[in-house]
Amino acid sequence: MGAGAIGGYFAYELGRAGHDVVLCVRRGFDRLVVETEGRLETLDAPVLTDPGCCPIGEWVILATKAHQTASAAEWLHRACGGPTRGVAVLQNGIDHRDRVASWTGNTPVLPTVVRCAAEVLFPGRVRHHGFSTLDVPDGSLGRDFAALFARTAATVVQRDEFELAQWRKLLQNVAIAPLTALTGRRLEVLRRDDVGALATGLAREAIAVGRAAGLPLAPEEADALVEETRFVAPDMGTSMLYDRLAGRPLEVEELTGAVVRKGNALGVPVPLNIAISALLSAVDEASRWPGGVVDLNDQP
Ligand SMILES: NC(=O)c1ccc[n+]([C@@H]2O[C@H](COP(=O)([O-])OP(=O)(O)OC[C@H]3O[C@@H](n4cnc5c(N)ncnc54)[C@H](OP(=O)(O)O)[C@@H]3O)[C@@H](O)[C@H]2O)c1
Repeated sequence: MGAGAIGGYFAYELGRAGHDVVLCVRRGFDRLVVETEGRLETLDAPVLTDPGCCPIGEWVILATKAHQTASAAEWLHRACGGPTRGVAVLQNGIDHRDRVASWTGNTPVLPTVVRCAAEVLFPGRVRHHGFSTLDVPDGSLGRDFAALFARTAATVVQRDEFELAQWRKLLQNVAIAPLTALTGRRLEVLRRDDVGALATGLAREAIAVGRAAGLPLAPEEADALVEETRFVAPDMGTSMLYDRLAGRPLEVEELTGAVVRKGNALGVPVPLNIAISALLSAVDEASRWPGGVVDLNDQP
């Protein structure tokens, strides 16, 4: 469900391994084409746009953006049934089960941490840049899901400290991605001392919230996280930056918003994340206006 960057890439891997894949999409296309390792590969799989035609799936894989989850309610409702082993949620953030619980009935939900770099060029065309790993919680559901990806180029890693892995990914999502989206710049922007210091501050707050929630995150992880960005290609972007540049809604509530909500609930001050949340929400709101951002030349 949602054959964008992540859904399209992992669907292609499953199809290539011989699984019957059905793509449930919002904007239709004929066939999915994935650019990976310099090759153009096509997935011959049915592309459905009408949830009413959705079959019950052995596995249901949800890969919309987190804020689009409710719009996929009808797909989830139709695809989950007796034979369904689970709903795997391939999204960022930490509250995957809560996000889908209203529409999945008794079907078990498997949260994942997505470690993959991909972008959608237009509906039906996905470019895979690298990495193809999904972290899942240890246990029988995670084992089943890992078996599904045997004979693919993707790797499913079962983690006994899954919640910790989720939070470590969240740190990147709240410290790095928002600053690229707000400045309209790639990871090179973190090389500025002032922006780097802001990123470290955002990560420190999130770490304090995670520690208050009982997770063994170390305060120094904030410095290491920002330092690491100096060693990646400076022209690498983030999906939040691409969404901003394309005028698409942003994943604010599920990422920075999650840190703010949990910080408030646990009594941990998160002033930097509150400020960034306000700015991202304002940008996000403008993306939902009919004309996008206000045209300053069009003022009375
Ligand atoms: N891209 C990455 O490199 C990356 C890396 C790690 C984690 N993630 C996370 O993975 C998740 C998916 O991100 P993404 O980059 O794959 O997003 P994406 O490229 O925007 O793909 C989302 C897809 O879901 C479709 N969709 C939305 N609502 C739908 C609905 N109701 N029914 C059917 N399809 C629907 C969208 O269709 P439309 O074209 O109509 O909008 C789009 O094709 C996010 O949580 C993201 O943060 C992404």
